[in-house]
Parts: sequence; C-alpha cells; structure tokens
Amino acid sequence: MKSDSPTPVVASLRVQQLLQKLHALSDVEEKSWSQRFFYLTRLVRFLVFGEIWSAAADEHMRDKFVALDRDKCQFIYLLTRSVGACNVIEAGTSFGLSTIYLALAVGQNVLLQRKIAAGTTSLTGKVTATEKEHAKAVKARLHCKEAGDEVEPWIELREGDLLESLKVDNGVPERIDLLLLDIWTPLALPTLKLVQPMLKCGAVVITDNVGIAKLLYREFLEYIRNPENGFRSLTLPYSGGLELSVYLP
Ligand SMILES: C[S@@+](CC[C@H](N)C(=O)[O-])C[C@H]1O[C@@H](n2cnc3c(N)ncnc32)[C@H](O)[C@@H]1O
Repeated sequence: MKSDSPTPVVASLRVQQLLQKLHALSDVEEKSWSQRFFYLTRLVRFLVFGEIWSAAADEHMRDKFVALDRDKCQFIYLLTRSVGACNVIEAGTSFGLSTIYLALAVGQNVLLQRKIAAGTTSLTGKVTATEKEHAKAVKARLHCKEAGDEVEPWIELREGDLLESLKVDNGVPERIDLLLLDIWTPLALPTLKLVQPMLKCGAVVITDNVGIAKLLYREFLEYIRNPENGFRSLTLPYSGGLELSVYLP
C-alpha cells in the first residue's frame, strides 16, 4: 500500500538510514529480471508438477533478501507497539530487516513497561529470530549490530531449522505475544502448530503473501481461518495479502 504519511517508526537517524539502505537493496533485488524469472518458474512448476518448494529453490534463495516491504514492516512495528508485545517470534529472519523493526518495537515496549512499573528491571522481552542459512544469519547479526543498542540487545537469533530451534525446552519464552510467519509456505502450518501452545490469549499472528500464494497456503489458511482452532483471522490488502490473526481460544 502506498502512503504519503511519515514513518511511524521511532528510531534514531542512524537506524532509519540503515533501514532505508536495506530496503533499497532488497527492492533492487526483487525487481531484477532474475528474481522475476525465479517467481515465474516457481509458478509454472507448481501448476505443471504441483511442486510447492524444492532444493533448487532453496539454493536460489540462499543469498536473497526476500524481505517484507517497507509498508508491511511499518505496520508490523506499529502493531507490535500497540499490543505491547514483549515476546515475539520471527519465523524467517533472512538478513534481519523485519527483525530490526520487531526489535525496535519490543525494546520500546519493555522500556515503557519498566517505566510504568517504576523501574522494575526484571521486566524483559526479546525477539526470538530464526534462520536456517548460516550465511544469512551472519549477515543478519551484522545488520543488527550496525543498528546498535536500540535493536541488538532485544534479539536472540537462533540458527538452524526452526522446527527444532523453537522447541520450548530450548528456552523459548512460554508466553508469546506475537508471531511473524514470513517463511517458505510448507513451513507455515507446522510452525504455527509448534508455537500455538505458547501463544497467550489475544496473541497476534501475521502471515505474509497469503493472497498471492493462496494455493500454496491452502492447508494453513483452512486451519487458521477455522475458529475451532482458536483463531480469528482476516486478510489485509497489502501487496500479496497479509493475514492478521488473533488467538482467542
Ligand atoms: C521470506 S524470508 C524472511 C525475510 C525477513 N522476514 C525479512 O522481512 O527481512 C524467509 C527466510 O526463512 C528462512 N528459512 C527457510 N526455512 C527455514 C527453516 N526451516 N528454519 C529457519 N529458517 C528458515 C530462509 O532461509 C529465508 O531466509
């Protein structure tokens, strides 16, 4: 969605400039012919062979941003602030662009809540970020470090397959306020089911590209849109469709 409004994101000039730089790099990559050709090939392979994902697709994406657009990141930042989320899981971190927005919001929420509770420093929170590609995790760490104190202390990046790294006995908080699902489509439902027992009542789940990849998300959407599974859900008209779901079991 195009908007003329100024960014709602509270951050130092240095972090704003870093975000702009990363979005610009990501935009160039997404608009490149090779990336467009890749998406077209994926579509054809799905229609002809029913192939949802492949090792070759993984290989192609190994050094790509595939980051959320600015407007989605800004929306997610503001949503995270508005629900006061302190414990967030990000399924799919890539180079850490959306992670920086989440960490800004979580850090600001925690500091606000500490202030309200008269400086109780035991109040804390974090973004549990996940990335299976080592090279991407290295870059994400560099970007978060570059963002500095407003961001880096609020992130715990777990490398490896999130279906392992997010198990609760691995030290993931037991009460999750917000889950961002920005992951390859076959992983969306298994990730949701893994995290669901940790979601607090009223927790928010955001899932990217549910419109454009509707067929690939079929089982996931059937699950999250069925109130018997505890969620109330609607699709927001961002590019590709952004599913906003609230856990109300
Ligand atoms: C769409 S990108 C995430 C983009 C990021 N949220 C952003 O906006 O900057 C999805 C990422 O999920 C990672 N991924 C795929 N399968 C994974 C798995 N099983 N465990 C952890 N990460 C995985 C991919 O390597 C890829 O970097």
